[in-house]
Amino acid sequence: MYKLYINQVFHLKISHLIQLPYGAVLAPMAGFTDSPFRRLARRYGAGLLYSECISAEGLRRLGAASLALCRFHPDERPIAIQLFGSSPEPIAEAAMVVVECFKPDIIDVNCGCPVRKMVARGCGGDLMQHPERIGRIVEAVAQAVRIPVSVKLRAGWTPKEETAPEAALAAEAAGAAFVAVHGRFVRNAKGSLADWEVIGRVKTTLKRIPVIGNGDIFSPADAERMLHQTGCDRVMVGRWALGKPWVFQALKDVAPPLVPPRQAGGRIIANLPRRAGGRIDTNLSCTAEEINFEIEFLDPSFDQRIDILIEHLYKMIEHYDERTAILRMRRQIGWYLSGMPDSAKLKKELMLIAELNLLINRLMDYKKRYIL
Ligand SMILES: Cc1cc2nc3c(=O)[nH]c(=O)nc-3n(C[C@H](O)[C@H](O)[C@H](O)COP(=O)(O)O)c2cc1C
Repeated sequence: MYKLYINQVFHLKISHLIQLPYGAVLAPMAGFTDSPFRRLARRYGAGLLYSECISAEGLRRLGAASLALCRFHPDERPIAIQLFGSSPEPIAEAAMVVVECFKPDIIDVNCGCPVRKMVARGCGGDLMQHPERIGRIVEAVAQAVRIPVSVKLRAGWTPKEETAPEAALAAEAAGAAFVAVHGRFVRNAKGSLADWEVIGRVKTTLKRIPVIGNGDIFSPADAERMLHQTGCDRVMVGRWALGKPWVFQALKDVAPPLVPPRQAGGRIIANLPRRAGGRIDTNLSCTAEEINFEIEFLDPSFDQRIDILIEHLYKMIEHYDERTAILRMRRQIGWYLSGMPDSAKLKKELMLIAELNLLINRLMDYKKRYIL
């Protein structure tokens, strides 16, 4: 078992209200990155967390399903609640509902979802065809709530319509606290990779706010390459973390070379304008904070993976009723077990089990028989 100790953690200050925490960011993934998964990712070192995208319309109507998606545990702070919608006022109204009911740290606006139903309604990725509307949405939300607002962009609509730099600039001018950029286009050729050069262009276009880079990080080396090739401030990890919430531990050393603490005296950077109303001071500064926390392992053994899977199950039961917890867990079990001896057979069996205690007994049994 590896034991690592982190003594210094750097935070990138994004407003007087919140700092972008150290550590890779967990990407929002609908159906997967719910509160139990986010808590595990945080435990293993994830920095900022996001909810999955939640319908602004649903929230305005106080729909139970939309409200349920906003729930989070105090361990998850700082957390961004991500909204999708097509125009400024409804998204701003939804943001007010979320802030009033849940008090998250950040409101994020989804400007990238490529799902056709969403795009057809002018939401998600469709916004990448209308960078000026992204600016208006940010402005409306920033005026409606007293917490930082961010956007998650794609590279553009198609590779011929690279609108991310323009959209990021509009968001910055409208008061966004930071942007995240997924380097894929909304309409990409099937199987194409994220274009990290676009992330680099967004970074050089923006002068005042941090940029989180995203797309195709599947190893610490990928994360390091993205940080160095694009100059982005943080990396965001999605699919790599599915069934592997511990991957964030392996990313603890790949933070960007912000400002070395000795050189910076722990604090500096630019003098930047205050946003309208003086509510968000966008001074970008770097502070060093002494904390000590222990990381237990980088690459867990099969035995440890089963334990994490069981812990995930318990967290699901804390958050959902038993039936929902087990149904949702079935989507992830295969990833946890991947590569383990006889895992296909075990997975099939687990898919038929509908009670938590039986599921856990079966996993313990498997551990004794094949692993220990
Ligand atoms: C199953 C799934 C669900 C996703 N749901 C969302 C979402 O709700 N909001 C969002 O902004 N992006 C969503 N994304 C996109 C991811 O946040 C991320 O941008 C994308 O997966 C690229 O990162 P990766 O290569 O690290 O996976 C989703 C991706 C996946 C695979």
